[in-house]
Amino acid sequence: MIGELSPIDKAKYVAARRAADMVQDGMRVGLGTGSTADWMVRRLGERAQQEDLKIKGVPTSTRTAQLAREVGINVVSLDQAGWLDITIDGADEFDGELNLIKGGGGALLQEKIVATASDQMVVIADAGKEVETLGAFPLPIEVIPFGWQTTRTLIEEVLDTMDVLGTSTALRMIGQAPYVTDEGNHILDLHLQRIGNVRQLALVLNQVPGVVENGLFVDICDQIVIGYGDGRVEVRDINEGTTEVDQPTEGGENLFADLAD
Ligand code: 5RP
Repeated sequence: MIGELSPIDKAKYVAARRAADMVQDGMRVGLGTGSTADWMVRRLGERAQQEDLKIKGVPTSTRTAQLAREVGINVVSLDQAGWLDITIDGADEFDGELNLIKGGGGALLQEKIVATASDQMVVIADAGKEVETLGAFPLPIEVIPFGWQTTRTLIEEVLDTMDVLGTSTALRMIGQAPYVTDEGNHILDLHLQRIGNVRQLALVLNQVPGVVENGLFVDICDQIVIGYGDGRVEVRDINEGTTEVDQPTEGGENLFADLAD
């Protein structure tokens, strides 16, 4: 199996594993959505079994809820958990201040609620997702289905007044039908190319009637765990201003060994 993983997938794997190992017994953990988060959920499931780790997992999508249950994590709702010790999730882009674009997997609404209700948010990503300025990845906006075309027009008018390079928007589709989120909404992807002021744009977009939430995460992420295809992992903490780098092998053990057939 290891031979089949691309360098990007290996990078996601090591980042996910490193972050999952930050979780301690008894914690209430927000479980992100996406391919990197899937690795993290699997690792937590392994730890729950091997170490008899008693954690409560709050998933950010039906997809993650299903996987978490399959791997034996005790799944509870956010309201049952009340508040979370940590949320670990992926991202589509991140910048030097750990601002994020999220929602490529369509789960941005629950992801933002869960991350905001956590003592700390740890993002896991491959190194290719780091950018100087956010915006190359289309920015997802969750909108309610009622009057979505009007909402789109209003968003485009707002974009004309913002510090962005592009202003085109697209309704996310699955085949011939609009994509529907776990909350029954649609997603508009904004092709902005470059976002000059992420904080301003995040605030202004949420003022448009019909917009439920946008995929900009500003001042939410505390730590980022960046994986590389050779197994290196970098952990940056925005509050402490620290960066640690783990080399590919720990105690001579191959980090990818458990992926082998
Ligand atoms: C889902 C997300 C994901 O975290 C983001 O799309 C990254 O996905 P992946 O880990 O598959 O690259 O925001 O809504």
